[in-house]
Amino acid sequence: MENSESILLEIKDKIAFITINAPKRLNALNKHLIQKMSNLLCELSTRTDVRVLIITGSGNKAFVAGADIKEFSSFSKKQGEELSQTGHDLLFNKIATYPKPVIAAINGFALGGGLELAMACHIRIASDNAKLGQPEVSLGLIPGYGGTQRLTQLIGKGKAFEMILTGQVITAQEALHLKLINYVVSQEALITKSISLAKNMLANSPNAIKKAIKAVNATYGNIGLQNEVELFGQCFGTSDFKEGVQAFLEKRKPNF
Ligand code: CAA
Repeated sequence: MENSESILLEIKDKIAFITINAPKRLNALNKHLIQKMSNLLCELSTRTDVRVLIITGSGNKAFVAGADIKEFSSFSKKQGEELSQTGHDLLFNKIATYPKPVIAAINGFALGGGLELAMACHIRIASDNAKLGQPEVSLGLIPGYGGTQRLTQLIGKGKAFEMILTGQVITAQEALHLKLINYVVSQEALITKSISLAKNMLANSPNAIKKAIKAVNATYGNIGLQNEVELFGQCFGTSDFKEGVQAFLEKRKPNF
């Protein structure tokens, strides 16, 4: 096991296991972790001993509980826009267009940027304790790492509106029903199931797989994502954002 600070990497039988390891804040993604993951993805893209990636969170409570709220709590509009743009460029779009299959093994909370990370992956498998949602509106924000686009693509406009506008958190079973995830399994079976799916891909042509990913992605343009970056940034200048984030930090409900 190599420890690249807070991103753990293990490679076995051509599968790279990437673990986001920041359990004290439920693996919430800060700038540092995003950069580390981005660097790792660049490195793994050219390694011939890696053909499939599996991303999971450390511990048994959270996959990723979103972007790090404390880090962006006093950001300006400009910094908010940059946060979103950098996230898209360094990590989320990189995963979505990655030349090798990326599987999200969702082992607990996948909220906000955490669900967006899972949705950027090509396939999602969740353990039965997983909880998924886009709660950004409760912080005075909108999803800023691709959620407005990828959730809509995966589950359709009506249900995406419902999840984004209510900020409601759903169970793994509900997510399966919505086709937001591919499978639900027990906590013990999560990695085994992910490996079994990865092995089915390993049997196939890496070149064909790379082209298949590109072909499927060709339908989805960047205009919506660019729009999301701007709108996400605009939220940072509002009193709702200040109240939403303050309420989270004070562990109380926001009063909008
Ligand atoms: N950012 C920073 N810290 C976070 C965090 C986050 N997204 N999520 C959890 N934490 C921290 C908590 O502040 C807490 O730290 P302290 O012990 O120092 O107080 C620790 O992780 C444990 O969390 P809780 O005590 O809250 O645990 P819980 O079991 O009571 O609740 C939870 C779990 C429901 C996931 C709750 O932590 C929560 O609601 N987290 C925030 C989820 C969220 O709103 N995510 C969206 C972030 S915004 C975003 O992602 C924007 C984007 O699209 C780019």
